[in-house]
Amino acid sequence: MRGKLILIEGLDRSGKSTQAQILSDKLDALLIKFPCRETKVGSIINEYLVDSTVKLSDQTAHLLFSANRWELAHSIVDTLNKGRFVVMDRYIYSGIAYSLAKSRSGGSSDSEMNSIDWLYSPDKGLPKPDCTLFLTLDLEELGNRKGWGEERYEKESFQKIVKSCFEEIFQLDTHAVTKIDVNNMDIPQVSELIMSKLESIGALQTTEKSIERFT
Ligand code: ADP
Ligand code: TMP
Ligand code: MG
Repeated sequence: MRGKLILIEGLDRSGKSTQAQILSDKLDALLIKFPCRETKVGSIINEYLVDSTVKLSDQTAHLLFSANRWELAHSIVDTLNKGRFVVMDRYIYSGIAYSLAKSRSGGSSDSEMNSIDWLYSPDKGLPKPDCTLFLTLDLEELGNRKGWGEERYEKESFQKIVKSCFEEIFQLDTHAVTKIDVNNMDIPQVSELIMSKLESIGALQTTEKSIERFT
């Protein structure tokens, strides 16, 4: 029996990291956050995010985020196969949505950045989550959250486009995504809602099914 891979996605400051931490504590799961800034590739990504003067081509930045996921792919699979759950804070959907938003916002005119196929391809082969939760919160609320605006992509106009890109990607993917509206909910309320959703879709039991991959 293996553990399940549970992914929490959403816009910046929607509460993903808070909820991923609580959920991983409850399930005694391995918590993995992307970007993982502690690896070799992750340290370049971190510089890029915190320092707006750092220049990388959009394609390079995109491929680094994917490479960062590949740095941890084996440890994710090994953990699942040992029967432990893995909770992930962002993954390939963030990878595609933020890059696609660069072209949709007029920030990039390169054809690669406007091609979901191109953006998706470096992530093919990565382990697929058993369950994806997408936290939704009104854009005005995001702007009131602590820490907002510190990093490269934290601008309301850009987040609006990222949100529409997430929606576009989720429509294309047959993989089920459970949306969770977190407006007007405090941290414990969101956590309870997440647990009850996961229970209702049977995501909290180990499984005999082999790990699926993105194809
Ligand atoms: P993300 O990982 O999505 O960027 P965080 O979990 O870091 O978001 O949360 C951003 C900020 O909002 C933190 O200061 C956190 O304490 C706060 N926060 C998280 N969830 C809630 C909530 N439900 N209500 C109010 N504040 C919240
Ligand atoms: P964080 O706020 O969750 O640490 O994420 C940092 C930023 O990186 C956030 O604005 C989303 C962005 N991002 C990408 O652009 N591509 C990716 O593949 C990932 C995982 C995050
Ligand atoms: Mg976070």
